Parts: sequence; C-alpha cells; structure tokens
Amino acid sequence: MKLSNRILGINGPGGSDGWEVYYRARELKAAGQPVINLTVGDHDAPTDPSIVQALADSAAAGSTKYTPVQGKPELRRAIAARVQARTGVPTTIDNIAVTNGGQAALFSALMCLCDPGDTALFVDPYYATYPGTIRAAGATPLTIPARPETHFQPDLDKLAAAAPKAKVLLINAPNNPTGVSYSAETLHGIAEICQKHDLWLISDEVYETLDWRGDFQSSRAVPGMADRTITLGSLSKSHVMTGFRLGWLVGPADVAEGVLNLTTNTTYGLAGFVQDAGLFAITKGDAAQAASAALYRRRAALAVEVFQGGNTITLTPPDGGMFAMLDARATRLSGQDFAHRLLDETGIAVMPGESFGQSAAGHVRAALTVDDENLRDALQRLREFGETFAREKGHSHG
Ligand SMILES: Cc1ncc(COP(=O)(O)O)c(C=O)c1O
Repeated sequence: MKLSNRILGINGPGGSDGWEVYYRARELKAAGQPVINLTVGDHDAPTDPSIVQALADSAAAGSTKYTPVQGKPELRRAIAARVQARTGVPTTIDNIAVTNGGQAALFSALMCLCDPGDTALFVDPYYATYPGTIRAAGATPLTIPARPETHFQPDLDKLAAAAPKAKVLLINAPNNPTGVSYSAETLHGIAEICQKHDLWLISDEVYETLDWRGDFQSSRAVPGMADRTITLGSLSKSHVMTGFRLGWLVGPADVAEGVLNLTTNTTYGLAGFVQDAGLFAITKGDAAQAASAALYRRRAALAVEVFQGGNTITLTPPDGGMFAMLDARATRLSGQDFAHRLLDETGIAVMPGESFGQSAAGHVRAALTVDDENLRDALQRLREFGETFAREKGHSHG
C-alpha cells in the first residue's frame, strides 16, 4: 500500500541532510570517545525552576482537561500585550493563535496562506525544516540567496525577480543558522517588494530576545506591513522552554481565525498546564529571559574572541541567536568534508553549512550550547584544525 504523495514528498529531492555528523558523533560518544557536540541547537542550561514549578502547580490544581483550541484567553491576552509592548504595533487577543511551538505556527501560517501549487519563497541559508514545512502545506519552495559577502542579507534583486510568481515570503532574523539580524535597509527593501507584488510575509522571530544589537525590529512594525505580515513567536529560545512546545503566531484576525479551524482538526490545542507555565514565563519570567540572553551573548563574544586575528577560519560576528557560522572556505574543503574530518580528528561535531542550503557552502555552524570552557576548547581546536589543514595543503593565507 502506498502512502500519500503529500507525505512522501515532504522531504523533497536531494540526498544527505547533514545530520550524519550528528549521528556519527552520538555513535562515537556511545563507544566511549570524547566528543564535544556543537550540532544541536538545544539549550544546555535547564529551564528556570520557577517555570517548571508553575507547570506542576497548574497540573496539580486541575488544569489537565481540554482547553480553548486557540489558546487560553489569558495567555493570548498576555502574548498580545507582550507583542504590542515590544513592537509598538496595536495587537489584541484576536491577532493571536497559540500553537505547538514556533514550528506549528509556521505550518499553520503556510496552511492559511498557500493553496496547492503556490510558490513560497524563503531565504538560503535557512532553518532546516523550512522546505519540508512548505511542501507539507502543499506549496512549492523556492530559495532566495543571502550570501556571506553581504553579511547574509537576502539578495533583494533576486527577491524582486522571484516575487511576481510567489504568494509568500518566509524570513528569519536573528537567523538560524547564520546568526545575523536584518538591517533596517533590508527590512524596508523586503517590505517594498512585498507591497509591490502583493506578497504575504511570514517573519520567524523566535530569536527576537537574542538580538545583541539591542534594537530588534519586528517586520510587522515596518510601516504598511501589519496587514500582510504573520510573525512567529515561541518560548523555546527566549525562556529555555523547547520541550514545552509553546509558540504562537501574530497576524490579521482572519488568519488567527483560520488557524482555529486547522487546530480544531489537528492538535486540538495545548495542554492547560503548559499554557499556564507559559503565562507565568511571559508575565513573571523576565529574569529567566534575561539570563538566557546574557548567556548566549557571552558565548557569541567568546566565539568572536577565539577567531580573532585568523584568516583561515573566520566568523561572521553573530548579531544574535544561538549559533556561530564559521567560514572555512580557505581550507577549500566543503562544509561537509570539513565537519567529517574535524569529527574524526578532534572529536568535535559541527553542522555542515550545506545542510542549510547552498549559500553557506564551505561553512560550518557551531551551536553555542555547551558550557563556556568546552566551547572555548572546541572552537580553539576547530581553528587549529583548519589552520593546520590549510598549511599542509598549501592553501594557507599566512
Ligand atoms: C529559526 C527557527 N524557527 C523555528 C524553530 C522552532 O522552534 P520551536 O521550538 O518554537 O518550535 C527553530 C528551532 O530551532 C528555529 O531555529
């Protein structure tokens, strides 16, 4: 018996997705070898105990039954207030749908906006699930490059050329995997193209609290964009709550209403105790949010320091997020080959840039998700590995 074309098509064409390095690292570790794993973007720090306590208290108090499918009104109100305070854009409960993490917010947004066969544009390098999520919603993914030479800002000429045939543009800043934020010029350029070609904008802002520039600007706040923009939010990154699966989307009221139809017929909403823990995090979790932001900011600075003065492995200084994107092109290895050799020779595991698209070829992504001491040690050894390799092959720049 054959499965549906929809399910069989989610992974799309193409072979390796880059996760072999992760699986090999796990095997080596299980076999007793010392491995520092910088592949996975999940926190090493625990969730703040007060948030976990809020979850337990809520469950003990009986919040264990069905909940309103769009999310508890008090949680949606708190999200709306948070979004309005952070962006300045008028936002009410009617603009909010609570979802199972930012990932389900993305799927829900695409399901609301795209009909089968519609084209959804997204920026390369991209978060690994984007093309699969677009295909799962029946749309056709098409990439817009964002090259290292332009600080990984999307190529607006290419975007303008592709826009007439597209329905949606999906962007993400601060970005996974590159760690860059978008400049005001980029955001305004994107807005202009969306308005000219009547594109919906889906802006994945799950890293918005991890923006070191201190002036994170939501795409929904760009003048004229609120009616055509859906932003994706989540407590996964801001409050170290990846396993709670609590996210949301913010958009025009008919989009939030559309998500209600989808959620009613799929997940039927989130556990009440998870929502109560989320409400606690949003209203009383400022210290936890600040601690997590300070941690990644410190580690990003540590990474910048390790790669200072070298020109074989270089780092695009992260503007935000949880990752460092390392340019290893001077070794003339692909990101894939670099990552496999690095693992074999040093026990350090990083993600090949090619697993995030073509624009990050020859790069590797290091997650800043191990303690500072191990992070410094791993990055220093990565730098030395690259320099030694380039010297031995005669590719060194000195
Ligand atoms: C860019 C980006 N968007 C969305 C997600 C999904 O996050 P959530 O845990 O909220 O589903 C991630 C997770 O790593 C991410 O990096």
